[in-house]
Amino acid sequence: MSRIAVRAVDRNDLDVVAKLHQEMLSEEFIVRFGPRFLKRYYRAFADSKHAVALVAVDEDTDMILGALLGTLNPSLHYRYLTRRHGVYFAFLISIQALLHAKLAKELVRTRIRRYTQGVLRSIKRNAKTDAVITTSLVTKVSDITHLFVNSDVQSAGVGTSLILSYQSLAIERGVRYIDLVTAPAGMNGAGAFYEKFGWKLQRTHISHSGEEFLLYRLDLHDVAHGPARIEPRDVPHSSSHKISN
Ligand SMILES: CC(C)(COP(=O)(O)OP(=O)(O)OC[C@H]1O[C@@H](n2cnc3c(N)ncnc32)[C@H](O)[C@@H]1OP(=O)(O)O)[C@@H](O)C(=O)NCCC(=O)NCCS
Repeated sequence: MSRIAVRAVDRNDLDVVAKLHQEMLSEEFIVRFGPRFLKRYYRAFADSKHAVALVAVDEDTDMILGALLGTLNPSLHYRYLTRRHGVYFAFLISIQALLHAKLAKELVRTRIRRYTQGVLRSIKRNAKTDAVITTSLVTKVSDITHLFVNSDVQSAGVGTSLILSYQSLAIERGVRYIDLVTAPAGMNGAGAFYEKFGWKLQRTHISHSGEEFLLYRLDLHDVAHGPARIEPRDVPHSSSHKISN
């Protein structure tokens, strides 16, 4: 048994974290774009000044136990992501679409318009819209886009450590609200987990592909001010997903 530490994702983590993501969030749409897409996706969050990529590791072995991706300023982050990584993402998605006809059909039906609009919006943005983005910081809403814990070590405090670390970073950056979506309770949703931290259900959201999600929001003013205290807890050793430094 050893303790949990939370740290930023670095380049050496990308293979392991992408593999774990693929296993733990196998139903998620972006997983279908392949491991190279996932690796670049984590890298984009890790490199962005406006986002956070965290891993929880076993303090003794540095083995990855879980991961969290979140934004600190969604507009600026997605603009960075599209401008810096958009061409490579489009290339990888196109390859997968060419190889998998079902994926191609679903992309066209549910996402291609939205992805294209996002890219065009990002390219067209000029100094004036940049000013609007800066002003929109006043609303101070960020979001958790992904969170998972290796099934071998769930219910040992790993998810809690990741959430509290992210909350602390969001508070430091002056964020007021954190949003996230999760599936409904009967469909492996984790709403009850987030409710423990004060997240409140806002509404039901139907995705472009017709899936139902629950939108949760945390008001950081409701959370005690200052960095949240993380109590390290013992986690059982897990043999898989060792990382090399
Ligand atoms: C949800 C998840 C991130 C929680 O991480 P974790 O490390 O297992 O959680 P912790 O050990 O920090 O917290 C455990 C507590 O949360 C509860 N909990 C964990 N997962 C839960 C879930 N899906 N729904 C409701 N409660 C949950 C546990 O019952 C436990 O409660 P207790 O402390 O009263 O016993 C993890 O279980 C996971 O990765 N699940 C699969 C992927 C997933 O659902 N990701 C979230 C997508 S939005």
